Amino acid sequence: MNVMGIETSCDETAAAVVRDGRKVLSNVVASSLALHKRFGGVVPEIAFRKQLETITQVADSSLDRAGLNLKDIGLISVTSSPGLLGSLLVGLSFAEGVSLSRGIPLLPIDHLQGHIYAGFLNDEKIPFPFVSLVASGGHTSLYLVKDFSRIVPIGATRDDASGEAFDKVAKILGLGYPGGPPIERRARRGDPKLIRFACSNTPHPLDFSFSGIKTAVLYYCRDKKIKPLADKRISDVAASFQEAVVDTLVKKSLSACAKTKARHLVIGGGVAANQRLREKFHSGAALAGVKCHFPQKAYCMDNAAMIAGLGYRLFKKGYRGGSYA
Ligand code: KG4
Ligand code: ZN
Repeated sequence: MNVMGIETSCDETAAAVVRDGRKVLSNVVASSLALHKRFGGVVPEIAFRKQLETITQVADSSLDRAGLNLKDIGLISVTSSPGLLGSLLVGLSFAEGVSLSRGIPLLPIDHLQGHIYAGFLNDEKIPFPFVSLVASGGHTSLYLVKDFSRIVPIGATRDDASGEAFDKVAKILGLGYPGGPPIERRARRGDPKLIRFACSNTPHPLDFSFSGIKTAVLYYCRDKKIKPLADKRISDVAASFQEAVVDTLVKKSLSACAKTKARHLVIGGGVAANQRLREKFHSGAALAGVKCHFPQKAYCMDNAAMIAGLGYRLFKKGYRGGSYA
């Protein structure tokens, strides 16, 4: 079955066509990021106005690139939450309009569960149950996934998300928005052991806290009089910060595996694109006897292929929702 996914939860307008939950026939993502850069973060009003302008064109080109048209689509799955309200509404109303006018079933999908599913695109065979870490700009959460209809939350951030911490530290260092990619680039030239940054402890051991480390970086730069961009010590700050965040994500995810006796760990979300994180997850997991699964980098960032893929799985399980003609 060919499923069209629609995803508009943040700055992106995305549409994809995925066959049988695995084979990605097209994956189109139009981002309005360039329009938000000068504000240092996503401006909801700008995001949803741009999404209104582009959604039809993006959906059309996902069909063109897949070599299909609407009569070949058996299901439309669309992100329904969490996300920016206006942005979500653009995707939801577009998907509902197409569903009603063409008589195609519609299934609403949780964005974070979509990030978990990203590891299953393009033929990864991962056995249940597994632990999943979703590390993105808005969330950092751990789940025990018994199957795609039984996803149990077992930990979450108490304050900032890990991606948000990358974004805020990049702002302190003058590296621009979004912060993950430039911090990763600068960190390659820095010494990760030079500065001992640490993430705060949390009352519940599987929760996260990233707000304290961001403040620690701010005070360190102020005390050492590090000037944004102009200072070569920025690479050391970036590397030391990245190391502390990655170590915390690895440690807590593996501890979740130990607690739940899971032998497989699936990582998703924008932060999962980070190469240092991938290396440290693979080496830490190997020592713990756990196998790590990462999506391809294109499916770490927000995309509609993960929404289409999960939609297929849930539809096959009998899930129904939304409107029908
Ligand atoms: O999943 P995503 O595309 O959107 C949300 O659902 O939030 O994640 C975006 C986040 C941003 O905070 C961005 O800085 C971070 O993912 N990110 C990275 C990297 N690429 C993107 N963080 C660390 N290293 C990266 N290479
Ligand atoms: Zn996301």
